[in-house]
Amino acid sequence: VSGSVNASIVRVDTGIFTSQAHSLLERQGVFALSDENVAAVLPATVADRLDHILPPGETAKTWEQLGRLLEAMDAAGLDRDGHVLAIGGGVVTDIGGLAASLHRRGIAWTAMPTSLVGQVDAALGGKTAVNLGGGKNTVGTFHPPAAIVVDPTLLATLPDRHLRAGMAEVLKTALVSGTDLTEAVIDLPLSAMARAEPAAVDIITRCLATKDELVTADLTDQGPRRLLNLGHTFGHAFEALALPDLVHGEAVGLGLLCAARLGAEQPDAEPGLEGRLREALSRWGLPTTWEHDPQAVLDEMRRDKKRRAGTLRLVVPLAPGRVEIQSDPGRQRLAAALAAVGHSVSTS
Ligand SMILES: NC(=O)c1ccc[n+]([C@@H]2O[C@H](COP(=O)([O-])OP(=O)(O)OC[C@H]3O[C@@H](n4cnc5c(N)ncnc54)[C@H](O)[C@@H]3O)[C@@H](O)[C@H]2O)c1
Ligand SMILES: [Zn+2]
Repeated sequence: VSGSVNASIVRVDTGIFTSQAHSLLERQGVFALSDENVAAVLPATVADRLDHILPPGETAKTWEQLGRLLEAMDAAGLDRDGHVLAIGGGVVTDIGGLAASLHRRGIAWTAMPTSLVGQVDAALGGKTAVNLGGGKNTVGTFHPPAAIVVDPTLLATLPDRHLRAGMAEVLKTALVSGTDLTEAVIDLPLSAMARAEPAAVDIITRCLATKDELVTADLTDQGPRRLLNLGHTFGHAFEALALPDLVHGEAVGLGLLCAARLGAEQPDAEPGLEGRLREALSRWGLPTTWEHDPQAVLDEMRRDKKRRAGTLRLVVPLAPGRVEIQSDPGRQRLAAALAAVGHSVSTS
């Protein structure tokens, strides 16, 4: 199945998790990390071997938790040949990857993503982070894992809310990729993903291939990789303001709708795109509206821009496979785009 993904480091296949985890854990100097929820559903033979367990969720993606993790790695005597095995969602792989990049100035790590967001997105591409100063991913490094093992059957225990949230990230990647993948994703029932049916495994693989291609061309996010921020400039602002009421993927889904509304201003945009996205998101049970103060969201988007010392860049979908970057559309157009998820909008 891993055919088109960078086969040397990414493996996607159903049922490979336990044997892959065992073979890594048999080696010397492997430090295994997970979170409480994931540890509770892992096979005992893997769970018993964990060296560190984070509290679950975005609120654990902190400097304090990173510090505790680094202390534990040091106390375990992990040397420069050590290896971090991160088993969990995007939070575990983001913080585990960051710890691996800092310990002894950087050791190798392996990602075994267990959530849908993790499997299609977070584990691949080398971005590691914790949140600091109220912003998202404000402290981090680029430190790609040596290997990524994706077993979609792990999604069976993922809580529904997080499965749904992952679909927003899947849809985002599909929009960047093109019509074929977008159609396949829009047609996919949530249950097929939960059961790791072949159509779902195929979609995960193609999302990874899409991201892999963009990341290979642009690891440090100066060019084409930026397209993957589709939905994320709005989304990160929603997420930062709503924590912990919105999870990452939910915020990204809302962000996609705002970005589509911005795109609809272009004469060559595909008519009805926003409505199609809204329909898919709501069929999967994702929020398509969110009560918010537009001024607060716009302020948060500016703050985020300042923290990153950059210009505000919006990734805008015109049609599946036609996604462009607009630099600072201005407050008025951004406010108009926010109306896409405001409470009194129609679904046209
Ligand atoms: N580095 C990147 O390129 C990148 C890309 C996308 C997202 N992210 C980051 O990833 C995070 C979101 O990832 P996420 O949605 O996986 O969050 P998460 O890691 O918090 O996982 C979601 C929840 O599901 C639980 N869980 C995960 N897998 C499970 C399983 N198989 N069975 C039962 N429970 C399970 C977790 O304990 C958690 O409560 C955000 O912090 C985001 O910034 C990073
Ligand atoms: Zn994301």
